[in-house]
Amino acid sequence: MSKSKQVTWGGRFSAAPDALMLKFSESVSFDQRLAPFDIAGSKAHAAMLAHVGILTKKEAKSIAEGLDAIGQQILKGTFKWNTSLEDVHMNIEQALTKLVPCAAKLHTGRSRNDQVATDIRLFLKDACSKVSQKLRLAQIEILAAAERNLGIIIPGYTHLQRAQPVYIAHHFLAWIEMLQRDITRLSEVASHANVCPLGSGAIAGTTLALNREYTAKLLGFVDKKGKALVTQNSMDAVADRDLCIEFASVCAIAGVHFSRIAEDLVIWSSVEFGFVQISDAFSTGSSLMPQKKNADSCELLRGKSARLQGNLQTLLTLMKGLPLTYNRDMQEDKEPLFDSLDQTLLCSEVLAGVMAGLRVNARKCRDASKDPALLATDLVDHLVRNGVAFREAHHAVGHVVALSEKQGVALDKLSTADVMKINKRFGKDWAKAFNLEHAMQARTGTGMPSHKGVLSQIKRWNSVFA
Ligand code: ARG
Repeated sequence: MSKSKQVTWGGRFSAAPDALMLKFSESVSFDQRLAPFDIAGSKAHAAMLAHVGILTKKEAKSIAEGLDAIGQQILKGTFKWNTSLEDVHMNIEQALTKLVPCAAKLHTGRSRNDQVATDIRLFLKDACSKVSQKLRLAQIEILAAAERNLGIIIPGYTHLQRAQPVYIAHHFLAWIEMLQRDITRLSEVASHANVCPLGSGAIAGTTLALNREYTAKLLGFVDKKGKALVTQNSMDAVADRDLCIEFASVCAIAGVHFSRIAEDLVIWSSVEFGFVQISDAFSTGSSLMPQKKNADSCELLRGKSARLQGNLQTLLTLMKGLPLTYNRDMQEDKEPLFDSLDQTLLCSEVLAGVMAGLRVNARKCRDASKDPALLATDLVDHLVRNGVAFREAHHAVGHVVALSEKQGVALDKLSTADVMKINKRFGKDWAKAFNLEHAMQARTGTGMPSHKGVLSQIKRWNSVFA
């Protein structure tokens, strides 16, 4: 048997890996996107090794320069990725060693296990800020749509049955709240990611006198006061992928939000509702039916949410049975993680685009919100104000609704005599409850959809986004 040519661990092996094994186990085809973080990690590690006297200053400098040169090649697309070197870490290290022979010292006190853990944390800090920015842009477009359509009332729905009237702006503001929670969650994930695992080695650190805090500081793993944040258990540091799960979970939740927003828009844009029109730019036609205009952008927002949930599920299942610490299974974390980032970014952008081009059909909204049944609850409130207990009032209005159905007369057009027969406390002015404008202005509490309330929420979001 020929001695293995595998440069990284070949010393112990007498045969090279099978071609099939290489194809099966390589990750460089997808983990190469970690390169910028891997390079940053290696530069910091080299600087730390020089700081503690394991590398000379000159060696650290030439390693840093070599890493920068490789970074440039990668950016330009001239770097030759080699699948037989398995992953991004070994590809970069080998290319570096060819360029700068003293880079053979770079892996001192380091393992790919703490290296990949560091790369992932750097990647996640960056990913969280990218997704937050895109979500913010979507929120800004939603807010603009709210501002463009002030004063337009639609029926609000529960169980997809008409419930109570709301300003469409109030409905849009609900979407902003949902996405805001995603942004808050992302900032939490970013702060969990902000702890440096480098120096944990393969599992049990190293006998060499590293300065972990020094590396952490160089990589920006610091608290608000600039104090280094380093992981406190070498085994956990290399075994943990909670952060990937957390990030995928935030993306999955954001996906649920995209999907629910999209579903509202799909329903509203149907001819049956006709509340909104989605721009041509974010619609598609049918290859067969010339009249069709489909809200494919929204349907795909709904569809992508399945994929985001799938990524989360993949990561959960991947990790659940693994003994501590690192297991090669964990290499499978990359693709779902990257996909969650990419798809969430795309969805945020598409949502922003859909909202920017959304047209609200004021007439259709007005017609739908004229339905007096939407104010049946306001009639209950009217009775309550006249001293009737809520349960009794609810019951009485139930009778009024039944009567209007029986007589085939709109709720607000029943005769006062008939209504007062049900409960005399309805009084002669009972039908005032059906004044839509008054009904809207009466909802003055915080978070309620009065015109003033909507305006003050719009003001609040404008100052948050400023
Ligand atoms: N490509 C590997 C991964 O992503 C890097 C860590 C490899 N470690 C090892 N002991 N084989 O999981």
